[in-house]
Amino acid sequence: MFDIQEIRSQFSILDREVNGKPLVYLDNAATSQKPNSVLEVCHAYYTELNANVHRGIHTLSQLATEEMELSRRKIQKFINAEHDFEVIFTKGTTEGLNLISYILTQKLQKDDEIIISYLEHHSNIVPWQLLCERTGAKLRVIPIDENGILQLDYFDKFLSEKTKVVSVNQVSNALGIVNPIEEIIARTRKNTDAYIVIDGAQSAPHFNIDVQKLDCDFFVFSGHKMYAPMGTGILYGKREILEALPPFHGGGEMIATCSFDGTTYAGLPFKYEAGTPNVGGNIALGAAVDFMNRVGHENIQNHENALLEYAQRHLLEIEGLKVYGEKAKRTGVVSFNLEGVGISSDVGMILDKMGIAVRTGHHCTQPIMEFFNIAGTVRASFAVYNTFEEIDLLVEGVKKAQRMLS
Ligand code: ALA
Repeated sequence: MFDIQEIRSQFSILDREVNGKPLVYLDNAATSQKPNSVLEVCHAYYTELNANVHRGIHTLSQLATEEMELSRRKIQKFINAEHDFEVIFTKGTTEGLNLISYILTQKLQKDDEIIISYLEHHSNIVPWQLLCERTGAKLRVIPIDENGILQLDYFDKFLSEKTKVVSVNQVSNALGIVNPIEEIIARTRKNTDAYIVIDGAQSAPHFNIDVQKLDCDFFVFSGHKMYAPMGTGILYGKREILEALPPFHGGGEMIATCSFDGTTYAGLPFKYEAGTPNVGGNIALGAAVDFMNRVGHENIQNHENALLEYAQRHLLEIEGLKVYGEKAKRTGVVSFNLEGVGISSDVGMILDKMGIAVRTGHHCTQPIMEFFNIAGTVRASFAVYNTFEEIDLLVEGVKKAQRMLS
């Protein structure tokens, strides 16, 4: 039984007003709100449990360690990783992608190739450009068509013995387009030995993730977009790959032995978790997974897909409104502009006055904006607590913005 009012009652922030109007929060692709169960876990950690993990013989340290490792196992189950030590805590997707591109440095040489797509967030572009600078490798970019759909025939042409990395997102943050990653992974495996990296920042909040079924080498996502606190994230990597690659950060907890003659490294996952982690946040990420499991993946997807379909249908009734990626398979996001209204942020500001939060601008995807020859879009993005009434308010708000700006 999916009871939207019961779900909303778990998010205290949804009761607040913004600019004298009830908050309509439609910026979930930037960050989702957090249910009270997650906030309570954060509070309980700092009021009852706060201690450093894996370091102390004392009770609090042991309790905090147990809670964090329990959370790791919840996340292991959430993505169906084979081992809990394949789940590395990070501070978010960006850190995960930077970590992977750094530890692969020795695996690439001049003229090797890294394939990404036109739909990537800057965080899945720049770390690979930096890797190219370090190694002399080259970046190849899968193009898109006018609907934003990846042109896989180009991908086929790019794949060769030079391909060392393929890194694509499962869902585009700017347009919400769902990429055919199963197909991309299958074609990569068939033709190359390349490392396969999936940016799941915009898919983990919406989809059931099964890293074993996907057969990717790495899968990264952020906690804060899936009901967990800021500064949390996960890097999944296959055991044999993580074991063979070098560490990223050096410091406490990632060593087995350390002397001035040299250092040996700890086993997984600690080899990749140098320094004091975000213990409270990591525990709360487990609570966010509990929340999603309680609601149910099928309920989340069905509700969000219905919201997207409803939003697109009613927004398209507005004359002069263009939805980017209109005909592509999408989830969670509708990205649009109004004809004759040059600046998306003007629309965003008018919506904000009505209590409606959307993101405007290039969404950290300047190549997509360049492709469509625009400076930015208005992006409304959905979570499980959004309602059809909120979409009606968005549509009314966009109509008002159109009247005011044209
Ligand atoms: N990557 C986040 C977004 O798409 C911040 O808004």
